[in-house]
Amino acid sequence: MEIIIAQDGAAVAQFAANIFEKYIRGGKTLGLATGSTPVAMYQELIRRHNEEGLSFSDCTAFLLDEYVGLAKEHEQSYYATIRRELTSHVDIDDAKVFSPDGTNPDPTAIAAAGQAYDAAIRDAGGIDIQLLGIGTDGHIGFNEPGSSLSSRTRMKILHPQTIADNSRFFGSAEDVPVRVLTQGLGTIGEAGHLLLLATGENKADAIAATVEGAVSAHCPASILQLHQHATVICDEAAAAKLKHKEYYRFAFENNPAWR
Ligand code: PGA
Repeated sequence: MEIIIAQDGAAVAQFAANIFEKYIRGGKTLGLATGSTPVAMYQELIRRHNEEGLSFSDCTAFLLDEYVGLAKEHEQSYYATIRRELTSHVDIDDAKVFSPDGTNPDPTAIAAAGQAYDAAIRDAGGIDIQLLGIGTDGHIGFNEPGSSLSSRTRMKILHPQTIADNSRFFGSAEDVPVRVLTQGLGTIGEAGHLLLLATGENKADAIAATVEGAVSAHCPASILQLHQHATVICDEAAAAKLKHKEYYRFAFENNPAWR
């Protein structure tokens, strides 16, 4: 695992944009994430599109997750969010921006939508780079603690902590859908490169568990330890509880790949 400790959120966004840009230039299949953390990186990619001609025209994109029971047009659906935050501002073909279909709340329909999503990822040749945020409870996508480490795209029930964390987007906790459709940990693990971003002191426990704890469903993000190409970029606040912080800085400074 590559651990990069950047000074602040702006530096995290720059590092992440530099990595993502290589995949965009190669016309690769991008795994996108919603939430607050990736927004600064998206803004930097939009800037590079507008000012430096970075083109997304050959890329396909898959979102990590979606709420169940929200219309696509709902401003908090992830279908709408990723368009508002990134894809409508760049030259990716909207028909090539995919997200799990959580619109029909019937359990059979949700299960079928999950299987269809995994099939669509497979048919696209897999995801080349998957961007990830991390929940304060260690979730990636919406794989809450206890998620099977080999899970596929399926329905999950949100943890009350996640509902509380996400209520800021909805106005009240009662308005946050309880059910979601998320890529599974097995699905996520098949992407060629996992890029996890974390900023702020409220992520410090989750980052310590992800990087230095046991691989466990207790902390779903710990599956990054099993992946051959995982990069964690965090700011100083999110890195605060890492025991081997100084080693990670030393390794970064001495690795020619980062020069
Ligand atoms: P955040 O969410 O980026 O809004 O903190 C991350 C997540 O829940 O995965």
